[in-house]
Order: sequence, then C-alpha cells, then structure tokens
Amino acid sequence: MADSAPVITIDGPSGSGKGTISRLVARALGWHFLDSGALYRGVGVAALRAGIDLSDVEAMARLALDADIRFEDRIDGEPHVWLGSDDISSDIRTEEAGQAASKSAAQPAVRAALLQKQRDFQLAPGLVADGRDMGTIVFPQAELKVFLTASAEERARRRHKQLSEKGVTAILPALLREIEERDLRDRTRSVAPLVPAADARTIDSTSQSIEDVVRTVLDWAAPLAR
Ligand code: DC
Repeated sequence: MADSAPVITIDGPSGSGKGTISRLVARALGWHFLDSGALYRGVGVAALRAGIDLSDVEAMARLALDADIRFEDRIDGEPHVWLGSDDISSDIRTEEAGQAASKSAAQPAVRAALLQKQRDFQLAPGLVADGRDMGTIVFPQAELKVFLTASAEERARRRHKQLSEKGVTAILPALLREIEERDLRDRTRSVAPLVPAADARTIDSTSQSIEDVVRTVLDWAAPLAR
C-alpha cells in the first residue's frame, strides 16, 4: 500500500544544505525524492507564463490544482521538472521564479491545492521529502524527521560561494541581511511557518561537511531501510 512506504522528511531554511543532503540520502537508499520547493517554483513559473496575477487568490489556487507539473524521477541523476510538454528545470531556478514561488507559497489555498500532489510521492520503497513543512504538515506521520539548520553567516557564505562560482558578483553583508529578513518572514508567517516538528531531530550543519550530515541521517535511517 502506498501509505505504508516509509518517509524521511528534511526541513530547514535555504542554505542549510537540505537540497543536496536530501538528494544524496535518497540516492544512497534508492528511494524516491520530493523537492517540494520545485513544486512551488513550478506554480510560480506557470503563473508567470499564463500572466496570472500572483495576488489573485482564486486564480492561483485553480492554477495550483490544474497545472500539469511533473518530475522525472531519475534516482541517479538530476531530476527534471516539466510543465505540460516544456522542460522548466532551469526556469524554476531563476530569481524571478523564486520570488513568484515565495508569493505563491504564502497563500493557504495554494498550499492546500499542493498537499495531495506532494503526498502522491509516498511510494515504495520509500520517500525522502525536502522542504519547509514536510514533517509538520505534509507527512506528519513520517518515520524520521530531520530539521537542518546552519548559522545565517554560514548560509550567507555558502550562497556567496555558489553565486561566485556562477560568475555572479554579490556582496556578503547584503546576502546576510536578505537571509536574516527571509528567516524572520518564514518563521513568523501564519501559514506553514518554518518550525521544526515536535518530534524532529535537529542537525546544525554550520561546521559539518555534507558527508558528515549524510552519514548521520543514514545512521538514523538504517532501521527503516531494512
Ligand atoms: O526551497 P526553495 O527555495 O526551492 O523554495 C521555493 C519557495 O517555496 C520558497 O519561498 C519557500 C517555499 N516553500 C514552501 O513554502 N514550502 C515548501 N515545502 C517548500 C518551499
């Protein structure tokens, strides 16, 4: 039965390393992977393409229900995201898509419309779900819940490094300010705020390597993967 497939949720702020870590954990276990942020980004891109006003609550909810957003489930490769017959894998990573995703994600009706789509990913042999509310709202029954954090300074440094590798100039203190503002907004918003589930285990990745964090999660996951 689909709902008996085990679920590991990995929630946390952006820059905590959860995307990379979730993918590596899913790959190591041979499980399915849900990048819920990509789903919100897909809705953002669909709205921009259809010329829908992001603050039009009804139109956005309808779009979130109807948009044909699909993931190509390649466990050993970068998953591709499709909107109808268009590959939107790169479009969803732009700053504009991120902003549109963030505005969409703040609407309760959009979140409600995406709930079942996210739950449909719970398939055997198991699922690793990456997001902000995976352990609190989408998969409250998950067998293992991880909340991944890192200091705002470290997340700003990681973002700075990522941008300079792409040839983008960014100012570290400005990135830090943006991250602190976003943290405050995410933690205090009324709908699905970014908070650890009561039964989540927290990892602070500030001074840990990706390999260290993956090893810890896999140790915790060992009883589920037998
Ligand atoms: O993790 P990300 O940057 O790809 O997420 C894109 C946006 O979607 C971001 O504003 C947070 C939001 N989001 C959310 O509210 N809930 C999730 N489960 C995943 C992402």
